[in-house]
Amino acid sequence: MRYTEIFTSAVLVGVASAALAHGGATGIVKERMDAMSAMGKAVKQVAPMMSGETAYDADTVRRAAETIGKHAGDTMTRLFPEGSGGMPSVAKDAIWQDWESFARLAEELHTYSEGLALAADNSPATQPGAMPSAGAMMGESDMMGADSMMSGGRMKADNAMSREELAEMPVVAVFAMVSNTCSSCHTRFRAEAK
Ligand code: HEC
Repeated sequence: MRYTEIFTSAVLVGVASAALAHGGATGIVKERMDAMSAMGKAVKQVAPMMSGETAYDADTVRRAAETIGKHAGDTMTRLFPEGSGGMPSVAKDAIWQDWESFARLAEELHTYSEGLALAADNSPATQPGAMPSAGAMMGESDMMGADSMMSGGRMKADNAMSREELAEMPVVAVFAMVSNTCSSCHTRFRAEAK
């Protein structure tokens, strides 16, 4: 059965990566590593769609966005109580020294994940100009250029975009904002230990 095969291999991959990456973590540290891993899988699943390597599927993108959203925001920050750093965790003390920035990135990830779900129909193939409903709603106002969005690597942490704005953007651009948020947080708050 095809479904069974897929399920089995997903479980095996999950077990293998958990065993490798988690380094014997338990409790809340394991919980947050599991949550991060789930998001990692979601990102890996849709990244090839964004680059055109695999066929674009809006439902898959929406599901990935949901997975990310489920683990972002408060749900994420609750898994980082003060004093929960140290082996096997690679969370930096900077998290608790600059909690505000950390929490803001977690919250932004939540907003962007919602935006990703909303923008899922603005597929790379159709691009926003080809979307009659979105176009009609926006009137003739300029659409936000995907190019400037992406090459700017914008991370205006103090001025996160609204869901409505994100919903009008090309899905590739919103996905870039999601993955930039993962990277920004890792660069600042995760030690390179593996
Ligand atoms: C607000 C900060 C923040 C955001 C946003 C964030 N992460 Fe993380 N991530 C961390 C920290 C801190 C760790 C290290 C946790 C530890 O070792 O205790 C981590 C660890 C990980 C790990 C390793 C988990 C393991 O098994 O050890 C993966 C994979 C990961 N993140 C993926 C992602 C992805 C994908 C996204 C975006 C969709 C993301 N993260 C967003 C802070 C963040």
